[in-house]
Formats: sequence, structure tokens, C-alpha cells
Amino acid sequence: MMYSEKVLDHFTNPRNVGELPDANGVGEVGNAKCGDIMRMYLKIEGEVITDVRFKTFGCGAAIATSSMATEMVKGRTVEEALQLTNKAVMEALDGLPPVKVHCSVLAEQAVRAALADYYKRQGIDPEPIVGTIQEIDHNAG
Ligand code: FES
Repeated sequence: MMYSEKVLDHFTNPRNVGELPDANGVGEVGNAKCGDIMRMYLKIEGEVITDVRFKTFGCGAAIATSSMATEMVKGRTVEEALQLTNKAVMEALDGLPPVKVHCSVLAEQAVRAALADYYKRQGIDPEPIVGTIQEIDHNAG
């Protein structure tokens, strides 16, 4: 299996690792087949994500994609973060091997789950976001 230099960099030196005690959006997702779990902490002030941390109990690609995802949403608005796709994360990492595509899906869903939690805490119906969080199909790659 070949990993890009960017994947190896984010795996060996992951950005924004840890927890955020004052997070106001926390999301956790997992893949039932590989057992990997990803938790995302967002601090949102005035619709802008001012801080972000993650904890991933999972494979190297899951760590690299969650690390990259945190860099891609930091400083962005909630609306912008909702547009983050696993494809964009993969492209930012110069690609992933086909069997590791689902790891990037986990990163996208962790961000969405944290945003849904933020909406819920604001008293906003998170259904439009939660509705897009689906079971991850391991066979799809
Ligand atoms: Fe499942 Fe990477 S092997 S998230």
C-alpha cells in the first residue's frame, strides 16, 4: 500500500490532537466493520470555528484524514464546514489507497456530527445535517 507524503506527514505529526474542554459541538462517529472511532471537538463563536481538536482511535489513514479535516475547517464558518467532503480531504492529502477511502468518509462524518451537535445545542433542528450521516459502507472502499 502506498501513502502520499502528506498522509505520512499527518499520520506521524497529526495537527490539533486532543480534547477541547470548552467545545460547543462534539461529534463521534465509528465504523462498525473496522472498529475505528473518531471524535471531533469544535469551538464555534459567532458562526466561525475558532478552535478544533480530534481524537481518533483508528488506522493511520483515519488519523491523517481527521488531522487534515481539522486544518480545513479551522477558521471557517459553520456553513463552509458543512461543505467539507471526504473527497476534498483526500485531495488535500494527495490521495488515499482505494481500501482507505472509507477512513476519509469517517472524517467528513465526524465534522458533520460535531456541527449537528452544535446546532442541537443552539436549539436548531440538526436533522438536515444528521440526515446526511449514514452508515459507512466498508465495501464501497
Ligand atoms: Fe477503518 Fe481506517 S480502516 S477508518
